[in-house]
Amino acid sequence: MSIQKLKWGILGAARVNERLLPAIIESPNSELVAIASRRAGAAKAVLEKYAPHGFIETHSDVRCYDDMDALINDPNVEAIYCPLANEEHANWAIKAINAGKHILIEKPMAITLKDVEAIEAAAIKNKVKVMEGFMYRFHPQHQRVQEIIDSGLIGDVLSVRASFSFLMKSARMYRINRSMADGGGAMWDIGPYAIHSLRWCFQKDGKPAEPVSITAHAKLNEHGADIVTSGVLDFGPDSEGRARFGHFDVSFERSRKSEYEIIGTKGWVKCHAAWVFQNDVPVISWALEDGKYAEERFAPSNHFNLEIEHFSDCVLNNKQPLLTFADAKANCRAIEMVLQAVK
Ligand SMILES: NC(=O)c1ccc[n+]([C@@H]2O[C@H](COP(=O)([O-])OP(=O)(O)OC[C@H]3O[C@@H](n4cnc5c(N)ncnc54)[C@H](OP(=O)(O)O)[C@@H]3O)[C@@H](O)[C@H]2O)c1
Repeated sequence: MSIQKLKWGILGAARVNERLLPAIIESPNSELVAIASRRAGAAKAVLEKYAPHGFIETHSDVRCYDDMDALINDPNVEAIYCPLANEEHANWAIKAINAGKHILIEKPMAITLKDVEAIEAAAIKNKVKVMEGFMYRFHPQHQRVQEIIDSGLIGDVLSVRASFSFLMKSARMYRINRSMADGGGAMWDIGPYAIHSLRWCFQKDGKPAEPVSITAHAKLNEHGADIVTSGVLDFGPDSEGRARFGHFDVSFERSRKSEYEIIGTKGWVKCHAAWVFQNDVPVISWALEDGKYAEERFAPSNHFNLEIEHFSDCVLNNKQPLLTFADAKANCRAIEMVLQAVK
């Protein structure tokens, strides 16, 4: 029996297609049928560059458009992956949704809460599935961290620290040529992961915690884009009056870090490659007050493939995506609070 496949189109010849384009091709319930860019020839070039070896030869029918609307209106396309620049997500997503397409939107879903709400309203009206692309949630290591917390091993969670940094190459500096308010900088690029992780590490009964207040500091470049932002999210006291703070630190001028650490009343647990760079080995460690220490390593697991497979399954079988609009709105609200604090 042949498996049903969702037909995908990619809206934008972005660099992140290096990961997502093969994921769409490799996912067993997905099929890549089109890709578009506004730059002549760029869609075809990205397909040729990132498709797995041998794919082009056997799939000459994948359409490469130099026109985004042509892809959105292609009746063969059922779902769209949107890796456009952060500030462009909302407009193009709403266009795609109004054309009846399901859409996986890269993080951040949009750069204002108002825009996330407009995407949600369009999705409800057109009865399509929409999900924010937090691929890391599909990596099994985070479920294991949650199991450790739920088991009570480290006690009550009181502090979480999330750090995401890398040295921005000069060739990529065009990414930081616009202000934070316009979607530029580290906070909108890698900050969404850190904020998302803090909210979820403090989760209760499957629902993320939300900050009651945020303080933050940033170093801005000449365009008003943040090169570094660091801050504290106050999640309010727990039932025993103990403080619950989430600390985040994102930077484009430091060496690679991609980790979060959860500190409880009895011990701590740390995820060392949280949003996983290409060659990082997923490993978590934990330690207890009595000196017990352990490291757990994970088999390689491609969270991009798992994300695509999940979203295709949700569309094909009418299931609720793991990442909801409530979550996207809350994450955007928290980032807006960070921007306000920086201001
Ligand atoms: N999930 C992840 O692991 C991950 C990783 C990185 C980024 N992201 C997210 O994915 C989205 C895209 O990020 P990205 O870093 O891949 O963006 P990017 O390479 O800067 O591309 C973004 C858009 O800019 C245009 N573009 C690309 N290269 C260009 C160039 N040389 N000159 C002019 N325009 C160009 C493309 O649109 P046209 O083709 O229409 O010109 C493209 O869709 C963002 O929302 C980001 O936050 C996610």
